[in-house]
Amino acid sequence: MQKIPTHLAIILDGNGRWAKKRGLPRTAGHLEGAKNLEKMAKVVKEKGIKYLTVFCFSTENWNRPAGEVSMLMNLFHDNLMRDASELAKAGIRLHFIGERARFGEEMAARMGELEEQTKNNDDFHMVLALNYGGRAEIAAGVRKIAQKVKEGGLRPEEIDERTVSENLWTAGIPPVDLLIRTGGDLRISNFLLWQLAYAELYFPSVPWPAFNEEELEKALDDFTSRDRRFGAIKES
Ligand code: IPE
Ligand code: MG
Repeated sequence: MQKIPTHLAIILDGNGRWAKKRGLPRTAGHLEGAKNLEKMAKVVKEKGIKYLTVFCFSTENWNRPAGEVSMLMNLFHDNLMRDASELAKAGIRLHFIGERARFGEEMAARMGELEEQTKNNDDFHMVLALNYGGRAEIAAGVRKIAQKVKEGGLRPEEIDERTVSENLWTAGIPPVDLLIRTGGDLRISNFLLWQLAYAELYFPSVPWPAFNEEELEKALDDFTSRDRRFGAIKES
C-alpha cells in the first residue's frame, strides 16, 4: 500500500534548463512549468494529498535579468486574475505565503481576495509561495510574537513551538511530510525552514516541466519505503 503524505511541498526547479536543452528561451520553460503546475496540482489532489505547497518565486529570484522577472510577473498576474469560481466548485482553498506587498497593490489585494473567496473549502489546499523566503518568514513571525509580548497579550515564558508555528505565514497548515525538488540540485534554498523539520526529502533529476504523474508515483513509492521515526526508535 502506498503511503500518502498529508502535505507535499515542491520546489519547482529546472524550467530554464528544460528550455535551454530545447534551444528555447528560459521564459518558454516558465510557461511550460506553469502549465505543468496546473496539470500536476490536479494529479496531486486526486492522489488524496490534502496540502500542496509550491515554491514559485523566491526573495532571491528578483536578482534575475529584468526581462525574465517581468515575464514571471506577467505570468503570475494573468493567473491571479483568472476567474476563481472553478476553484470554489472543486473545493480548493488557496493560500499565499511570502511578502506580497512587493507585487504591488493590485496583485497583493487579489491574493487576499482569492484567499477570502476560497476560505470555506477544505478538500484540497494549495499554498503558493511567492516572494517567499524561509528566514524572512521566521523573522516576520518573531516580530509578531514580540509585538504581542509588548502589548501584554503574551508572556515570554509562554512562547513554545506552537506559538512559533501559529505566527508563521503557514499558520494552521500542517508540517511538510514530503519535499520534492526537481532539477537535480540537492538543497533547500531557504524554503519552509521551520515546516520541513521532519520532512522526507526527494530530489529527482527531471526538470519541473517534465515532472509528470509517473515521476510523482516514483516519489510516492520512495516516500512509502521510508521509515519515519521522528527521532524515536522503531517498535518491534
Ligand atoms: C524554476 O526554474 C522557476 C523559478 C525559480 C521561477 P529555474 O528558472 O530556476 O530553472 P533553472 O534552474 O535555471 O533550470
Ligand atoms: Mg533554478
